[in-house]
Amino acid sequence: MNALTRDLIKLTKLAEEGAKASDRFRQRFHLMPPVGWLNDPNGLCQFRGIYHAFFQYSPFDPRGGVKMWGHYTSTDMINWEYQGVALYPDQPFDCHGVYSGSAFVEDGEMYLYYTGNVKLEDREEYDYINAGREANTVLVTSKDGMQFGCKKELMRNTDYPSDLSLHVRDPKVWKQGDIYYMIQGARTKADVGQAIIFTSVDKTSWTFKSRVESSKPFGYMWECPDYFEIDGVNVLSASVQGLKGGVWEDRNVYQSGYFLVDGDILGEYALSEYRLWDYGFDYYAPQSFETGDGRRIMTAWMGMPDCEEYTNPTVTDGWQHCFTFPREICAEDGIVRQRPVRELAEKERRVQEAKILSGSETFEMEGYQTYDLTVSGIKGNTFRAMLGEELVLEYREGRFEMRFEDQDKAAVSAGRGLRYAEIERIEDVRLLVDVSSVEVFVNGGEFVFTTRYYPKRAHVCVEAPEAQAEISEII
Ligand code: FRU
Repeated sequence: MNALTRDLIKLTKLAEEGAKASDRFRQRFHLMPPVGWLNDPNGLCQFRGIYHAFFQYSPFDPRGGVKMWGHYTSTDMINWEYQGVALYPDQPFDCHGVYSGSAFVEDGEMYLYYTGNVKLEDREEYDYINAGREANTVLVTSKDGMQFGCKKELMRNTDYPSDLSLHVRDPKVWKQGDIYYMIQGARTKADVGQAIIFTSVDKTSWTFKSRVESSKPFGYMWECPDYFEIDGVNVLSASVQGLKGGVWEDRNVYQSGYFLVDGDILGEYALSEYRLWDYGFDYYAPQSFETGDGRRIMTAWMGMPDCEEYTNPTVTDGWQHCFTFPREICAEDGIVRQRPVRELAEKERRVQEAKILSGSETFEMEGYQTYDLTVSGIKGNTFRAMLGEELVLEYREGRFEMRFEDQDKAAVSAGRGLRYAEIERIEDVRLLVDVSSVEVFVNGGEFVFTTRYYPKRAHVCVEAPEAQAEISEII
């Protein structure tokens, strides 16, 4: 441990001790930072039976700062126990941020791969794209998931293809046969987003193998790529920056979505059109992992980088952002669906018997801040819900909309406006509501909309004639 690590440990403790425990918008069942800022999920895994979730963490300022890896563990993916900071930015190759990365588990050992970010001192000639920064690939291992060994620098920018800019990051590692594969996100010097693949036989020395590209340029940077097979379908996930024009003008500043892969990105492949994981306001940088019982789980940052349009009033309470609730991913008839992990059922207490809404009857609840509400058997494409007096979820003219009535930065929306997805027919809607967030699963999780919101009144009202509504409180 060097002097910088020692000081960072002390300062982090001080910041965490100073955190206010009581605040209006603290989440109850979504992972959030002890204090300060959180962004991407990192190193998600199940190791020796325990779930581990690391996160991009800046404890000193709720608006962000130099990134380290905070660490939580859980036995059910719902209640998370904070374990402190696992990785500090304390080496020459990661001194301006222990950036995002993943966990790979083998033979009772946890391998954490991440990007060591270095941003050189301000100089006029630096554009921080092709000059003035480093993205180093780093490995740390652990035998117990609590103590982390020495950092080993594996690759630097000169080890990546020479047509890439200095933006290469977010390693995700898996094994196929006897070979280990690593995928990283990249921006070329010509400003095209893509993913690059490395191979290894020992998890330590890596060689560039190939790249994954869309047939036409798609954004200037792909962050946090992930690749997995689910129910016979190969899925390539990427968080894409730089999409412009057409439908993208109505969407978030950056997108997180996936391509269905015809073939295999390790060999011959064709990518489908890009589909969004989530159509709401707050969703970025998802990462998946496989549980011991073979489920593919995905969690994302419930936030949005470089977003000027809307804000989060929790900044004045000393923290910002949280994760999405972990979702099980499956593919049915080629349709990728997401559903809250089944462990949630253990935390639910039925508030009211299931009810069929007749005629103009509405379904209303007051006073619950955390709940799981399902409306099924929707007839005639008629659905409307209002939450916290401001957030409207409505199907109209072939679109499912998530919109706020008042888009003032001081309102429930904190500046959020309207998001939508074109959906042919609406069958069911499930709302997973925490104190300051809403995740909406439409048509068995084929479409999802996630948003933060800051309600003054815990209230929900649903209109969906002839549909069945049921609600459980999450305790
Ligand atoms: C995505 C991202 C990653 C990077 C990390 C830094 O939100 O920009 O590409 O590793 O955040 O915090």
